[in-house]
Formats: sequence, C-alpha cells, structure tokens
Amino acid sequence: MDGSATLACTEPFIRYELGPTGTIYRCCSGWLPYECGNLLTDSIEEILNNKNFLMIADSMRSGGLKLCSTACNIKAASLNYDRETLLIKEPFQLCDKSLVDEKSKSLRKKFFLNYDFSCNLACPSCRDKSIMVKLGQEETLYQVVKTHAKAKELIQYFLDIGDDVEISITGTGDPFASPTFYNYLCELADTTYNNLSISLVTNANLMTPERLDRIKPLWNSIKHISISIDASTEKTYNIVRKQGNFSKLKENLDYMESLYNSGITTMQWWTYYTVQTANYKEIADFADWVWQYKNINKIGYTIAQRWYHNDKQYKDLIGGIDKVELKTLIEEIRSNYKDKNIESVVDFGNLLNYVKPDYDEKIFIFQSEA
Ligand SMILES: C[S@@+](CC[C@H](N)C(=O)[O-])C[C@H]1O[C@@H](n2cnc3c(N)ncnc32)[C@H](O)[C@@H]1O
Ligand code: SF4
Repeated sequence: MDGSATLACTEPFIRYELGPTGTIYRCCSGWLPYECGNLLTDSIEEILNNKNFLMIADSMRSGGLKLCSTACNIKAASLNYDRETLLIKEPFQLCDKSLVDEKSKSLRKKFFLNYDFSCNLACPSCRDKSIMVKLGQEETLYQVVKTHAKAKELIQYFLDIGDDVEISITGTGDPFASPTFYNYLCELADTTYNNLSISLVTNANLMTPERLDRIKPLWNSIKHISISIDASTEKTYNIVRKQGNFSKLKENLDYMESLYNSGITTMQWWTYYTVQTANYKEIADFADWVWQYKNINKIGYTIAQRWYHNDKQYKDLIGGIDKVELKTLIEEIRSNYKDKNIESVVDFGNLLNYVKPDYDEKIFIFQSEA
C-alpha cells in the first residue's frame, strides 16, 4: 500500500495565512487554495468554524493529503517518503491520520502576515516592478492598515487565552522594509509575552545592526530568520535580487554571526534558495559559501513557481534549467554534506520531483487531486 495514503499534515489545523483584503487560508494559498474566512468581515468565532476549514480538517483525517498540491514540499516529501528505506526523512508536519488532531493540539498556532507587499527589492521571480505601499496609494494603504488591525486582534485573542503563538513576517514583502511590519515588530519588542515566538523571512538588506538592535527584546523570541539570497556571486545576486546590495547583505550577515559568536544571542538563520535559470548552476557553491557561517542551520531549495508571470516570463524564469546538470549538482551537495546528516540540514523539497525527466511542469502552477 502507498504509505502516503495514511499520512496527514498538521499545518491546516494550526496555520493562518493572512492575505491582502483580509483573506484567510489555512496553508499556503497556492497549495491548499480554499479561502477559510475573511478578517474584515468575520468574527473570530466564524473564522474558527469556517466551513471550508472544517472540510479540509475532515479530508486530512481521512489521510493522503488529497486536497493539497504536489508542488507543496510537504506533500512532495510524503510521496517520496518510503518507510522501508527511510531515504527521505518524514517532515515533522506529517503524522499518521489517526493522530492529527492530538498532534495539532500540542503545536503552536502560526500566523503568516502576508498582506503587505512593500519591499526594498524587485526580484523578477516575485514581481515585475518595485512595490512600496505609502501615502498617495490610499486604497491599498487602507486595505493594509485595516487588515493589519484585524490580524493583530486575531493574534491577540490567542495570546490572551495563553496559546503558544508564532508570528511569521512575511511571505509577501519584507519585514525590515515595510513600515507596517517593522513598526509591529517594534511594538512587540516593547511588550513581554512568554507565549510568543517570531519568525522572519527577509532579504536582509535592511536588517542592519541599527534595525536589529532596536528589536533586541525580541531576540530571545525569534525562533528563526529565513534569509533569501538565491546566489553565490554578486553578478547573479544582482540579477535575481534586483535592487539588492550584495556587500551590504554580507555586512548584515557578519553582524548577526558576531552576535552569535560572542554569545549575546542564540539567534540562527536558514535560507531558502529559489532555483531558476539564472542561479541553478550556483546551488552547490552557495552551500559551500553559507555553511561557513557558524549560525546557519538549514538550506532549503525550491523551484521558482509561477506567481505573476505570463507564459513567456515563466519560461524565461525557469525554462533554461538543464535538469540533468541540476541533478548532478544535487548529488554533489549530497556527497559533500553526507557527514552533516544531510536530510536534516539540506531540504531539496520539490527539486527532487522537478529533476525527474518526465515531470510535468504544469504542477508548479497548481494541481490538486480533488
Ligand atoms: C516573497 S519573499 C518575502 C520575504 C522576503 N522579502 C524574502 O525575499 O525573503 C518569500 C520567499 O519567496 C521566495 N520566492 C520569490 N519568488 C518566488 C517564486 N517565484 N517561487 C517560489 N518562491 C519564490 C523568496 O526567495 C523568499 O524566500
Ligand atoms: S526580496 Fe522578497 S518580497 Fe522582495 S521582491 Fe524579492 S522575493 Fe519579493
């Protein structure tokens, strides 16, 4: 029997993806695309009992992650997971379907603040122009401010009832560039919650010593910082991280490492490398470079997905990847890092499926079994 049919994922039970215009998804909206309420129109009780959420929960309890896209790294791992050989480590989000409710109760609630697209960079994988929501863009600014106020209420509800809460900022813009998100971090830094943890996803160009020091009271609550770099050379960095500054990034990484080395903080970082035509040749060099930092603990690789792109843009983005060469580079990383317990420090995610010669690229747009 296919082992994956008995597996369930805890994510939808504990996760709230809060999007622009108040949308709520219970996992990544591209991978489990069922809207489960709206911050701007629904009460907290309505959100908790949303009918799409109840349908997802029932489907999970029946096993097999049937509603989820195979582009999801966790679903991909469930399909590759082989209990006989244990070649692929089971991600912690997965468990036997009969245990999913019990396991979910023991996990902290996670809130993904994805409603402000403001960012200092304009990476072609993500957008075709700079976005900074500000005065003069009244309609968008109003949506961000209103959604943020409601998101804070929802988070406060769980903090007040004593649940463990993790806030992740952000999958859309940048926590150090968006005034909404950075001000929220400053507010949280001025209050004490022992049931709060934070995770940040950033390009780290604005994660300067000054900005990091301003939120120093949060350092102990910062569970991890995911820093997106996507290149091992300045030349490639300038293509994939448009408007970024490679030297500034390195200065900021060095500062964080110096804090770690001097024992001031145990804050560590990991990195997700978005693989595309412009950078796939550098995935092994990248691993060699970043593993020199003492405070990095994980590299994840993900194939760039189709976000705003039309056919031509998406073809330009990933169409030049030579899958055979990419597979060789994956093997090179595996062999270089086999002493480091490779499966726990390097996550190849959906790359392993992507390099299969017969792999259907449409899957990266969206495909569900339901
Ligand atoms: C949109 S960014 C927001 C956070 C922050 N600005 C950053 O770059 O880390 C979140 C993550 O999405 C990744 N990303 C960008 N374009 C992507 C794409 N087309 N497909 C998949 N991931 C992508 C980024 O590299 C980053 O790791
Ligand atoms: S840094 Fe992050 S949010 Fe900003 S453009 Fe790049 S991927 Fe998008």
